[in-house]
Amino acid sequence: MQVLIVYYSRTGHTAGLADALAAEARRRGHAVTVERIRAQREWNKWLLPVPLLPLLPLLPVYLLSARFRRFWHRIYHQPEQAIRPLAVPDVSNFDLVLLGTPKWLYLAYPVARWLNTIAGLDSKRVASFATFCGPPLEVFELGMLFEPLEAHLRACGTIVAGRLAISSGYHPYFFFGEMQRLFRWIALKAFGRPLADFTLDGEIGRAEFQRFCDEVLA
Ligand SMILES: Cc1cc2nc3c(=O)[nH]c(=O)nc-3n(C[C@H](O)[C@H](O)[C@H](O)COP(=O)(O)O)c2cc1C
Repeated sequence: MQVLIVYYSRTGHTAGLADALAAEARRRGHAVTVERIRAQREWNKWLLPVPLLPLLPLLPVYLLSARFRRFWHRIYHQPEQAIRPLAVPDVSNFDLVLLGTPKWLYLAYPVARWLNTIAGLDSKRVASFATFCGPPLEVFELGMLFEPLEAHLRACGTIVAGRLAISSGYHPYFFFGEMQRLFRWIALKAFGRPLADFTLDGEIGRAEFQRFCDEVLA
């Protein structure tokens, strides 16, 4: 297969996952092209969360009510960020596209712009992969990221081929690793496992990686 791996990464974790996927795809005999999406200009770290603030007061309702989540996914605003010209502006020649993003509550802004720029998605098999700090919480991490993304992909006519979520265990906020500590605690409470188990070096993370590769690269 001709496989395109296209991703954005601000601090290197999604890039690491993309590298591992590229190596595995090549090992399985596929021809792999890799494109790293680059922002025209990286925003200051403290400005990035500003467009995400409208959800925060509503987060408890979002987490508790599936009806509210469906409503929110219809009306919320996915921020975008200008990106540099692409080496592959049209994906028509590929059999499979693996699209990678860090979770910035939803999609990373440069990836949202890529989706609205790219040509040739119609009838294409697209699988997405993501890194985020936390463990794979069904609603807060997986649902909030992949559901709107996959709905958008389907609306573009793609065949959604799979999803991979790997914890990076890294969070840039706030000053002393407060968010990382919070997610480590949540992993223990929600899964009874250390957060490290869900990273690419951890038992669950490695198994997820294999499952995804078996599913989409078979
Ligand atoms: C604006 C912003 C929002 C984020 N939101 C989340 C989040 O909702 N859940 C989470 O677990 N991590 C969140 N993170 C952490 C990143 O998803 C995590 O550090 C990711 O692995 C970074 O990938 P990268 O190194 O490829 O840029 C957020 C980071 C930023 C900058």
